[in-house]
Amino acid sequence: MAVTILAVESSCDDTSVAVISDGEVLSNLIANQAVHIAYGGVVPELASRAHQANIVPVTHEALKQAAISPEDIDAVAFTRGPGLLGSLLVGTSFAKGFALGLNIPLIEVNHLQAHVLAHFIKEPGKEKKMPQFPFLCLLVSGGHTRIIILKNHLEMETIGNTIDDAAGEAFDKCGKIMGLPYPAGPVIDKLASQGNKNAFTFAKPRVNGLDFSFSGLKTSFLYFLRDRIKNDPAFVENNLADLCASLQNVIINILVSKVVKASKLTGITEVGIAGGVSANSGLRLAMLHEASKENWNLFVPEFRFTTDNAAMIGITGYYKYIKGEFTSQSVAPLARY
Ligand code: KG4
Ligand code: ZN
Repeated sequence: MAVTILAVESSCDDTSVAVISDGEVLSNLIANQAVHIAYGGVVPELASRAHQANIVPVTHEALKQAAISPEDIDAVAFTRGPGLLGSLLVGTSFAKGFALGLNIPLIEVNHLQAHVLAHFIKEPGKEKKMPQFPFLCLLVSGGHTRIIILKNHLEMETIGNTIDDAAGEAFDKCGKIMGLPYPAGPVIDKLASQGNKNAFTFAKPRVNGLDFSFSGLKTSFLYFLRDRIKNDPAFVENNLADLCASLQNVIINILVSKVVKASKLTGITEVGIAGGVSANSGLRLAMLHEASKENWNLFVPEFRFTTDNAAMIGITGYYKYIKGEFTSQSVAPLARY
């Protein structure tokens, strides 16, 4: 009998529901929240209200696209954290109610672990090459920048972490300084493809070991632009593509150099990237380049499984289901997992 999981993700500003059967994604619906664009960032109170409005129709559509009825579901998996508490509360309460109503198990999922396990999502009719363990993964998103060793599907160790901002925040905050809309990461990625990545140089932070830092880069980017704008008020618009390419280049250099270091230190050559920033085309290219130089077996996720999605919650829920790792109805979300 197939194991079918209904998965709910509501940690930030995307309401997502997926149906996963034996590790294969049958549906993966994502409702983005346009309401935050005007504010240049996610407004927590508006995010939880939008989740509240979206969650029932998104679930309805996910079940419809998967062509299953609620009675076919074996368990409900949901993001317990980390994330925005008000947003997590909506998904958690909904998952608890759904599981209680059907008298089926509830499975809590760590959002970060789910980003890494996105590499194990199977798609109908497609051959899937899975990473072997131990698997070294760079997790780069709007809220996190970590180097993780996945020892088996459910056991992971963080060996590098940001001491301040996340890589996605560096993209988004520098984008905001240039007047780009939120989230700026994908916009910078696009503009960078038309620019010269060596046009401007920004200092790489000096951080020990495998840790990262991005707040200094954001500040030096701000001061750099302030100085240039003094002499040329149209500096940003006249140099937008070059600024994006140069900024993206330094962020990629910071990320990739630490992954190379981590692989050398651990001897692990099964290497991957995950999280929203792993959609970045420059980062993908740079990782491919390193993979051939360093002899890595490189794993780059499908675009639709990089940014927040419930399919990654579902695949994590599936492995937890197999191990019998269930959660009680008294569970509460955790802003920090
Ligand atoms: O994983 P995610 O959807 O949410 C979090 O868990 O944080 O990541 C969102 C982040 C945002 O900072 C966004 O700007 C960034 O991923 N992002 C990108 C690209 N696509 C999304 N950054 C750079 N290049 C991209 N193509
Ligand atoms: Zn995420």
